[in-house]
Amino acid sequence: MQTREIKKEDFDEIVEVIDRWWDGPINTFAHPIFFYELGDKALIVESDGKMIGFLLGFIAHHPVKTGYVHLVGIHPEQRRRGVGRLLYEQFTERCKDAGCVRMKAITTLGNEGSQRFHLAVGWTVQEIENYAGRNRKRLVFTKDLVPTA
Ligand SMILES: CC(C)(COP(=O)(O)OP(=O)(O)OC[C@H]1O[C@@H](n2cnc3c(N)ncnc32)[C@H](O)[C@@H]1OP(=O)(O)O)[C@@H](O)C(=O)NCCC(=O)NCCS
Repeated sequence: MQTREIKKEDFDEIVEVIDRWWDGPINTFAHPIFFYELGDKALIVESDGKMIGFLLGFIAHHPVKTGYVHLVGIHPEQRRRGVGRLLYEQFTERCKDAGCVRMKAITTLGNEGSQRFHLAVGWTVQEIENYAGRNRKRLVFTKDLVPTA
């Protein structure tokens, strides 16, 4: 399997598969801004010419330069084969090269798979009250990056 930068055709496919890959209606999260304006660091993973995973993410500049993972999805039949880990490694490397000092992602409390995945790849988790509005707590994942000398 290989990672590469996202193209418009990949974004179109993400919009089409995302509800199935996430097992629920989430396609509004694949807003076109994450391709057109914030897509220069987004990645997909292919196997035999087919997309098996994607990561929509970007660099945020406030409060510190941060690599932010907005949305990640792996084909349901390709899970637990290291695809998510590979996407996170490559995206993190690109953010580090661009001068980021930390990584960040969020999810809802019921997303046990996501929580276990982030812990497995070495991120830290915090449950934050009212993060997404009143009574809307979220799990906030972060990882500090050690600058390369
Ligand atoms: C969460 C998700 C991205 C993980 O991707 P993946 O390619 O299956 O993950 P990997 O194979 O790289 O897993 C790396 C490690 O994370 C942990 N892990 C991953 N998924 C897990 C799960 N569902 N339950 C428990 N641990 C899990 C394991 O320790 C795993 O290593 P192992 O398989 O050797 O035990 C994928 O399941 C997915 O797309 N889920 C639906 C969408 C979603 O929840 N996205 C994340 C929201 S932020």
